[in-house]
Amino acid sequence: MAARKGQGGWMIEFLAGRAPADESGEALAVPVFEGRVWGPGGDWVAGELGDWLERFLDDVDFIGKAGEMAVVPTGGGIPFRTVLLVGLGEEIDLEGIRRAAGSLGRRAVRVGDLAVTFHLLDVEGAARAFAEGFLLGQYRFDKYRSDPKPVLTERVRFVGDDGDAAVAEARTGACIAEAVTLVRDLVNEPASGKSPQDMAALAERLGSEKGVRVVVHDENAIRSGGFGGLLGVSAGAHRPPRLVEFWYEPPGARGFMAIVGKGIVFDSGGLSLKSADAMEAMKTDMAGAAAVYGAVQAVASLGLPVRLLGIAPLTENMPGGGATRPGDVLAVRNGKTIEVLNTDAEGRLVLADALALAAESAPEVIVDLATLTGACHVALGDKIAGLWSTDDSWRDRVLAAASRAGERVWPMPLPDDYRKNIDSEIADMKNTGGRYGGAINAALLLREFVGSVPWIHLDVAGPARWPEDEHYQTKGGSGFGVRTLVCFAEDLASRDR
Ligand code: BES
Ligand code: MN
Ligand code: ZN
Repeated sequence: MAARKGQGGWMIEFLAGRAPADESGEALAVPVFEGRVWGPGGDWVAGELGDWLERFLDDVDFIGKAGEMAVVPTGGGIPFRTVLLVGLGEEIDLEGIRRAAGSLGRRAVRVGDLAVTFHLLDVEGAARAFAEGFLLGQYRFDKYRSDPKPVLTERVRFVGDDGDAAVAEARTGACIAEAVTLVRDLVNEPASGKSPQDMAALAERLGSEKGVRVVVHDENAIRSGGFGGLLGVSAGAHRPPRLVEFWYEPPGARGFMAIVGKGIVFDSGGLSLKSADAMEAMKTDMAGAAAVYGAVQAVASLGLPVRLLGIAPLTENMPGGGATRPGDVLAVRNGKTIEVLNTDAEGRLVLADALALAAESAPEVIVDLATLTGACHVALGDKIAGLWSTDDSWRDRVLAAASRAGERVWPMPLPDDYRKNIDSEIADMKNTGGRYGGAINAALLLREFVGSVPWIHLDVAGPARWPEDEHYQTKGGSGFGVRTLVCFAEDLASRDR
């Protein structure tokens, strides 16, 4: 299935090099600020190539805006065959480096050996951000094409001072990019190739590779465990559900976080069937669960000293003869009951069980990720996730982590007086809340299942799937959430006891 390692073709080696003037090779990439203000290495290149370079850049209209790039054939003027000038724009921050590196990675897929000076930019963590952006920019999902175009990049050399430190940082970035790549591969994989059983088998493989304990509940354990939400959603599908728990518990761990991801491997809507158009992208409805896989992989690979519980409820939502009907009532793991009025509001049903399970272990905080509502997609668009929380200080730490990671997340309200929107005539609550505030109503339902554990909910219905090729993003599965979770885990792991 999807998790072929390095499918993007980027098993790249990072090396330290000498100063650009003492090196040679296929290509040298140099960052440039807007107005052709040279970044590290640029003065040397400009000095060697002389006025000719300025005229060349005038001709191709390159001034160093973010997103711009100029490919300069050196004609032997310096011992690199090509110089790739990469625009940074006016300001420089980690996300600017990631994006520039992403554009560079995309353009440099046929460069086998690339020298770079990005690590010398005056931003803490520049080499890590460079590696993340560069590797993700080279991502492509081509396993179903008969003529895949290989990525030829094998080596990236950090030339100039501090190369060794840059290599170490870049390896961290590469770990994170590899986890994001796993998530993109899983999200892009057709539903036929990622049954709940396939996903559970992958979890077991990942667990044994990374030293993470994995518990898989099959359909019998799901029934006897009282996971009525997950069972109810799976009732119309032929392929049975799975509930996966990852337990990463390194010695000396500081802090205990749980992450929960919606894992609907295909959302047809169930008996409340979606339209053909609305169904097209619904293989991506497991992006939250995939982000849990990715975060577990990255946190374990990096060996972060934090206790991490990852939970993925996995099923498809299909309209088979055994399917849950509108009007049926499901009993969730914590004993609460939900009247299902619309079988297409299934994410909250499987998350209710998973959140209740997470809360039983009394973590310090629960973060869930879900492609939960079209309403959130409408409200915040394609590139921003909504955030709901029961705890302001944990909310601020997740927002700060998202900002460091370069993932856009916006805080949304949990108004108590809206709770009546999900009052049911016959059960504890119903799974729809009327026409308005759909993303809030969904969040209010989830809140019923976290007990007293501080909780953050990320509705990633928009950004889980990127709408276009740009910088380090590729159209399709984005891997959204992994980088925020890793930055949040780093925050927890570094905190004083
Ligand atoms: N998976 C969808 C939400 C979704 C929509 C994600 C578009 C990504 C893009 C979810 O299960 C769903 O169908 N939600 C319904 C809920 C409604 C029936 C209350 C929705 O948002 O329309
Ligand atoms: Mn649905
Ligand atoms: Zn769904």
